[in-house]
Amino acid sequence: SELDNARTGRSSSLASHPPSSDFTQKIDVNPPKGTRDFPPEEMRMRTWLFQNFREVSQLFGFEEVDFPVLESEALFVRKAGEEIKDQCRLTDFESLVHPDLLKPSIHLQLKNPSIMSYASAVQMAKLIVHLFVLCPEANCTSSSSIVKADTPGLYQPATMLHFDDDLFPASPHHKITLTVRVTSCHGWFCVHHEDKAVSAPGAVSSIVAGIEVFRLLTIFFLLVWMKLYCFEDRGNRRVALRPELTPSLARLVLQKGKSVSLPLKWFAIGQCWRYERMTRGRRREHYQWNMDIIGVPNVTAEAELISSIVTFFKRIGITASDVGFKVSSRKVLQEVLRRYSVPDSLFGRVCVTIDKLEKIPIDDIKNELRAAELSEQAVEELLQILTAKSLEELEEKLCTSFEALAELKQLFSLAQKYGYSEWIQFDASIVRGLAYYTGIVFEGFDREGKLRAICGGGRYDRLLSTFGGEDVPACGFGFGDAVIIELLKDRGLLPELNPQVQNVVCSLGQDLQGAASLVAARLREKGQTVDLVLENKPLKWAFKRAARVNAQRLIIVGSAEWEKGMVGVKLLSSGEQYEIRIDELE
Ligand code: HAM
Repeated sequence: SELDNARTGRSSSLASHPPSSDFTQKIDVNPPKGTRDFPPEEMRMRTWLFQNFREVSQLFGFEEVDFPVLESEALFVRKAGEEIKDQCRLTDFESLVHPDLLKPSIHLQLKNPSIMSYASAVQMAKLIVHLFVLCPEANCTSSSSIVKADTPGLYQPATMLHFDDDLFPASPHHKITLTVRVTSCHGWFCVHHEDKAVSAPGAVSSIVAGIEVFRLLTIFFLLVWMKLYCFEDRGNRRVALRPELTPSLARLVLQKGKSVSLPLKWFAIGQCWRYERMTRGRRREHYQWNMDIIGVPNVTAEAELISSIVTFFKRIGITASDVGFKVSSRKVLQEVLRRYSVPDSLFGRVCVTIDKLEKIPIDDIKNELRAAELSEQAVEELLQILTAKSLEELEEKLCTSFEALAELKQLFSLAQKYGYSEWIQFDASIVRGLAYYTGIVFEGFDREGKLRAICGGGRYDRLLSTFGGEDVPACGFGFGDAVIIELLKDRGLLPELNPQVQNVVCSLGQDLQGAASLVAARLREKGQTVDLVLENKPLKWAFKRAARVNAQRLIIVGSAEWEKGMVGVKLLSSGEQYEIRIDELE
């Protein structure tokens, strides 16, 4: 009733205060964590960057496409398993999550559990259930599993979730150890927990501890699942904000089917969302420039793509001494694994481990490879081969030539013809984290080694079949907007971009506002940009304004001149001043 009274203005209590003050709510003026506003100065920079992305793409004959930012969640979760690697770098959770996530068993140790509402715990639990629904292969192996399916393989949200009693230990001095068994690196997991009675300082009541387990699990899954921003829409559909553009592109290619003639050369510039821990150049929202070639099985496609990135770098003042590309092929790894009869199913997992070389100690890498059931000899040879920093060295180490080597040689020979040999180097340890790459992969890096990868891409010939279509050879790259800006900043190469307008038109008096509008309209018809002063302002103010927006001319509409059908013009660069007939305005 207070609200009704406020609306009708009848409340006596409100009458003594301005009604708005009762309803004002102080909002946080910052954008959500990890996201950005683009005020004019930032927007000018973004426009400049995108302009360069666009012009380079068009220079190479690519057509622009776009996709919805919101996609069906299923588009991303199918191939997201290998993104598990990133979890290892999340120091926020290092105390909670065993760092060695790729071992078959992962221990999530409960420390300092915080109190959460029951409602949010249920939400979390639902999310976990949902993940299992999405991954029918997921199975719960332990007798004390937290998530049980009545019928294995047939997961129904209503029937599958049981909070086992033993998950909530009676004693408050309990520490819960959760063991998450990762049985595959292709996006599915087995989860069970072991309840060990170990004293934990500050342990709180068992129910809170139980809830905390769910919270940790959820965080774990959210991070593993490509840090997906996912939710249910009002029509109960699972949707996600796209973390990358490639699955959307594959979806569109599938949808177009035979109606498009190959090859397709498409580029896109779009916002991507990843629930990341933020570091320099890594955000929760970023824009990506993608160029993809669909329908060309030859290395000529990779060579063309790298050439386009080099062209872009050169345009914005970056040289081969600032930036380089590390190039390899996933087939190199495949060849070594084949020699040791390692099953193809382990390929993804090995790629993830190899992607961590230089990030974690070599002994941990070895342990992970052993855990992936690679023999001691295979581990040693693999690591030996991955130290190869040239194709000759690789050939020597492998004692044989094979398909990937021939492709890489062709790429380097093409690079010579294009004239960008000094930009690229072979590095066997580059495998890239995303699951779908099948052949040549590359990453752009800053030579000072201060920043994360500037861009990355490769061949993904089998992505379409994972979506139920027919495979079409494809390759492409993604180039983020954040790292490159950091690099330009470091090198002092950020362009100075000022606001620009050709004319400021100002009337000297309220009664001449209409005349000023007429002048502005005439100029705009001629294609001139005009910032029209909309209020009655003194001439001094108009001069300041013109200087601030970097105008070339200030056009002054004064009554004496207007009566003669003329206006005053001041050229701001030289200070020159003259009068001109309005029908001569150009
Ligand atoms: P990606 O390596 O995940 O590849 O991302 C490509 C680039 O996007 C990175 O090199 C980086 O510049 C930028 N990037 C990624 N995540 C973030 C972030 N959280 N904050 C700021 N920048 C970021 C892909 O996404 C593949 N889909 C690329 C591709 C296209 N492969 C074939 N076609």
